[in-house]
Amino acid sequence: MANSRLRGLTWWMKWAKKEWAIAAVGFSLIVFLFTLISDSWSRRDDSNLNNPFDLTHTHDLVDLTLVRNAKNTGAFCLDGSLPGYHFQKGFGSGSNNWLLHVEGGGWCNTVSSCSSRKFTRLGSSKYMESPVPFSGILGRDPSQNPDFFNWNKVKIRYCDGASFASHPESEPKNGKSLFFRGQLIWEALMDELLSIGMSNAKQALLSGCSAGGLATLIHCDSFRELLPKDTTVKCLADAGFFLDEKDILGNRTMRSFYNDVVHLQGVAKSLHKDCVARMEPAKCLFPQEIIKNIKTPVFLVNPAYDIWQIQNILIPDASDPHGNWRNCRLSIHSCNSSQIGILQGFRNSLLKALGEFQKIKEGGMFINSCFIHCQTWMAEIWHSAKSPRINNMTIAESVGDWFFNRKAVKQIDCPYPCNPTCYHLDFTRG
Ligand SMILES: *[C@@H]1O[C@H](CO)[C@@H](O)[C@H](O)[C@H]1NC(C)=O
Ligand SMILES: *[C@@H]1O[C@H](CO)[C@@H](O)[C@H](O)[C@H]1NC(C)=O
Ligand SMILES: *[C@@H]1O[C@H](CO)[C@@H](O)[C@H](O)[C@H]1NC(C)=O
Repeated sequence: MANSRLRGLTWWMKWAKKEWAIAAVGFSLIVFLFTLISDSWSRRDDSNLNNPFDLTHTHDLVDLTLVRNAKNTGAFCLDGSLPGYHFQKGFGSGSNNWLLHVEGGGWCNTVSSCSSRKFTRLGSSKYMESPVPFSGILGRDPSQNPDFFNWNKVKIRYCDGASFASHPESEPKNGKSLFFRGQLIWEALMDELLSIGMSNAKQALLSGCSAGGLATLIHCDSFRELLPKDTTVKCLADAGFFLDEKDILGNRTMRSFYNDVVHLQGVAKSLHKDCVARMEPAKCLFPQEIIKNIKTPVFLVNPAYDIWQIQNILIPDASDPHGNWRNCRLSIHSCNSSQIGILQGFRNSLLKALGEFQKIKEGGMFINSCFIHCQTWMAEIWHSAKSPRINNMTIAESVGDWFFNRKAVKQIDCPYPCNPTCYHLDFTRG
C-alpha cells in the first residue's frame, strides 16, 4: 500500500533519471514522460484508482540475459557492449508459444545524440537495470493477461538507436567509437531465442511499444520467415504508428527527423526494397508505408491523441515559441476549442492513414481516443476493471480475439471526449 506504492514509484524515478539526459539531447522524451506519469498518478490517491505504473503488486521480476554470441557477429549496442533480453519460461498449454515484446525509447539522429545514449540503458547494457518487472502483456497472472499469461515471454532491450535497423557501414569513421549494429543485434537475438526453444513455437506474437512498435513492423515478415510454416505468427505494434504529418507551423519536423536517423545510421538497408526504390527512404520508415508491404497479420494499438506524437510531431517545441500550446500539450483537458479542433484533425489524419489497412481481413486495430502513449505493458491499462475500453472490450480482449480468430477486431473509438473509460495523462497537476 503506501509503502509498496512508494517502492514502485522509486523504481520508476530511478529508471527515468538517466533518460532525462537523452531526452534533452535527442527525441526520446518517452521515458522522461514516465517519471511525470507516475508522478501524476501518485497525486490521484483520492481518486481510488490504482497507479498503473506501480508494478509492485502485479509483476514478476525477470533477470537480464546478455547475448554472448553477439560477440561473434559484432552485434553490439551503441557503446560496444553486448545486447540483452529478459526471458521467462512458458508453462502448461503455453509451453510452446512465444511472445516477444520490444522495448521502446525514441531514436538518435546525430552523432552527438547517439553518443549521449552510450551512457544510458538505451545505448549500453552496462546501464540496463535488472531484474525488470513483467506486467500487462508480459504478465503471468491469468486475471490480468487472460490469453498470454503462460507463454514463453521475452522482453527485448533496445540499445541501437534506430529500432533495430542500423547498419555498420554508416558508422562514423573519424575515430568516434559508435556502433550502428541494430540489424545485427536483431539477428543475434533471434538466433539465441530460436536456440532456446523458439524454433519449436506453435504460436508466436512479436510485439513492441513506441520505437519498439516500429521495430515490430520493420521486422514482422522476417520474424515470420524464421519460424516453421505451420506456426501461427502475428505482430502487434503498440503506439508505433508514427504519422508522417506536418507540425502546426506546416514544417515536416518528423520526416526531417526520420531523414536524419535513416542517413546517420544506414537504416534504408532494413526497409522494404520496393518502398526505397519508389520514394525517399525517410518516408519508408513511417508505418503507413511499412504496413503496405507486410504479409503477416498485424494488430495496431494506438491512441488517436498519442501524447508522444502530439508533443513531438504535431506540436514540437520549436513550433510553439510563445507557449500558446504549453498547457494543451500537457493535458488534453487544458486545450481550448480551436486546439481541440487541431487535435481532431490529427486524429482524422491517423484514420485516413489507416484506411487501406482497415480493409485487410487479417488485420486488427484498437484506436482509442485517449491522451496517452504505450498501452500494452501496464496491467491496469492492458486488462483490468479500470482499463480503457471500446465497445466494452479491453485491449487484452481485443488482441486475444484477433490473435485466436475468435472474431474480427477493428475497434475505432468515437472522438474525444466521448469515451469515459479513457485514462488521459495529465502533466499539469501539481
Ligand atoms: C517552420 O516554418 C516556419 C514558417 O513556415 C519557418 O519560418 C521556420 O523556419 C520553420 N522552422 C523549421 C525548424 O524548419
Ligand atoms: C485558443 O488558444 C490559442 C492560444 O492561446 C488562441 O490563439 C486561440 O485564440 C484560442 N481559441 C479560442 C477559441 O479560445
Ligand atoms: C462490460 O463487460 C463486463 C465484463 O467485462 C460486464 O460485466 C458488463 O456487464 C459489460 N457492460 C456492458 C454495458 O455490456
